[in-house]
Amino acid sequence: MRPSWALTLSPALLSQVHGLQIPFFGSTTPQAPISNAAKELVSSDALQAHVDAANLLNRAKILYEIAELGFDEYNHPTRVIGSKGHLGTIDYIYSTIAALGDYYSITNQSFPAVTGNVFESRLVLGHAVPESARPMGLTPATSSREPVYGSVVAVANFGCELSDYPSDLEGGIAFISRGQCPFGTKSDLAGKAGAIAAVVYNNEKGDLSGTLGTPTPDHVATWGLSDRDAAPVLEKLHNGEKIDAIAYMDAIVDTISTTNIIAQTTAGDPDNCVMLGAHSDSVAEGPGINDDGSGTLTLLELATALTHYNVNNCVRFAWWAGEEEGLLGSEYYVSVLESSENKKIRLFMDYDMLASPNYAYQVYNATNAANPVGSEQLRDLYVDFYEEHGLNYTFIPFDGRSDYVGFIQNGIPGGGIATGAEGVKTEEEQAMFGGTAGDWYDPCYHQYCDTVDNVDLDAWEWNTKLVAHSIATYARSFDGFPERDLAVNTFATSDWKYYGHSLQI
Ligand SMILES: *[C@@H]1O[C@H](CO)[C@@H](O)[C@H](O)[C@H]1NC(C)=O
Ligand SMILES: *[C@@H]1O[C@H](CO)[C@@H](O)[C@H](O)[C@H]1NC(C)=O
Ligand SMILES: *[C@@H]1O[C@H](CO)[C@@H](O)[C@H](O)[C@H]1NC(C)=O
Ligand SMILES: [Zn+2]
Repeated sequence: MRPSWALTLSPALLSQVHGLQIPFFGSTTPQAPISNAAKELVSSDALQAHVDAANLLNRAKILYEIAELGFDEYNHPTRVIGSKGHLGTIDYIYSTIAALGDYYSITNQSFPAVTGNVFESRLVLGHAVPESARPMGLTPATSSREPVYGSVVAVANFGCELSDYPSDLEGGIAFISRGQCPFGTKSDLAGKAGAIAAVVYNNEKGDLSGTLGTPTPDHVATWGLSDRDAAPVLEKLHNGEKIDAIAYMDAIVDTISTTNIIAQTTAGDPDNCVMLGAHSDSVAEGPGINDDGSGTLTLLELATALTHYNVNNCVRFAWWAGEEEGLLGSEYYVSVLESSENKKIRLFMDYDMLASPNYAYQVYNATNAANPVGSEQLRDLYVDFYEEHGLNYTFIPFDGRSDYVGFIQNGIPGGGIATGAEGVKTEEEQAMFGGTAGDWYDPCYHQYCDTVDNVDLDAWEWNTKLVAHSIATYARSFDGFPERDLAVNTFATSDWKYYGHSLQI
């Protein structure tokens, strides 16, 4: 059977996906469209009954083939923004929804996104080549993309004030403790003080890798360094010894255009929308089938299933781009909403990483005390579902790591579920969920091996049922769900450790 979504795909992509079995709902012969009003009102049980792990797996195989379009440029499959793998993902989402006829209206929302790529880097401190040195995300190159030479200079305190940077730093390499302010602020101040490069060392145990965030004209090439590799350097500086260093960063920071896809039901009250999102992009390092292929495909599968039903409230699906570069797509979306449009969104549900192989069922602990009112009601909907089905769950911090940030910052209640990234499973969680204590929830997080084999189908199917439950519940009714209030920017988030997947402080 010819896949319905393939009709508008490019020949190149078609040849890539040829031969894969793809899920198909509905009749194989064309029929006159049934009006939405004539359809049965959606219910949780009915929508959940469409969920089948085999369909999700088939879609994951298609997505992997699409990620392989990134091969030429990156030497491995990827769906990072700007890559052919990401463009193919956008095409796949768009054409799948477009094939559903007039059930949805679809919008492409293009926006500028900053991307960075490090081609090569080297850091030599005295005679040591510290093994833990990691270029920060969105770091600029060293001057002329060539090695630069200077002395290592200790920066006072946490390097959050220009006065922490000594005058002899001019032409040198700033050595700065992590803490108190974002890495981007430190790199900017180092540049303002005349440094030719900067190293931020960990003030906790372990390696340090993070992002500089939004580029500034004064950012300099910046590395993260472990506490261990920092210790001998700090000792020498403390004893007044001179340390000559070589810093070399070949990198680019670029602004490209990328696209969010938004699909909204044409039926249902357009002034009261239930909104949900997943991110369509992966990191450059791999194909991102769990992160966030799982959420992307769950939404696609349920957007397809929903067309069998009528809805009372509008349902709006979003596939965000640029999540991995710092929640760019979702931030952009919320930033351009008029307040009259903002208040039509009754809540936003984030679905990022639903199928981690060493999973835990994680619910964002989004309380009304710390978030827009309604967030806690959503949290409790997830909790009730897991409890009803005899499944264990844990609460995890609602602290900035995915696309809900822009929403809660702008007064829109939010929440979501996940199954774990680079966190380590505890003994207690092994008893609750099976899997392996001591390993990451997703051992292939942000790596080459985030392939079709990197999803747990049981977890994915249960979570897709839960997403179906969340859609159906609110598409039927917001009875008992708090009304929107338009208070904005009352939710302090600048002290969060994470912004998106990247450490920023
Ligand atoms: C939206 O994007 C899709 C996928 O790239 C493309 O096929 C379609 O033509 C675009 N539509 C508009 C109106 O730009
Ligand atoms: C959830 O958040 C509330 C309030 O922010 C806090 O009191 C509670 O301890 C948190 N629960 C867990 C399990 O983290
Ligand atoms: C839930 O966790 C408990 C241990 O806390 C375990 O005994 C039980 O089997 C778990 N339930 C499921 C469905 O895995
Ligand atoms: Zn993600």
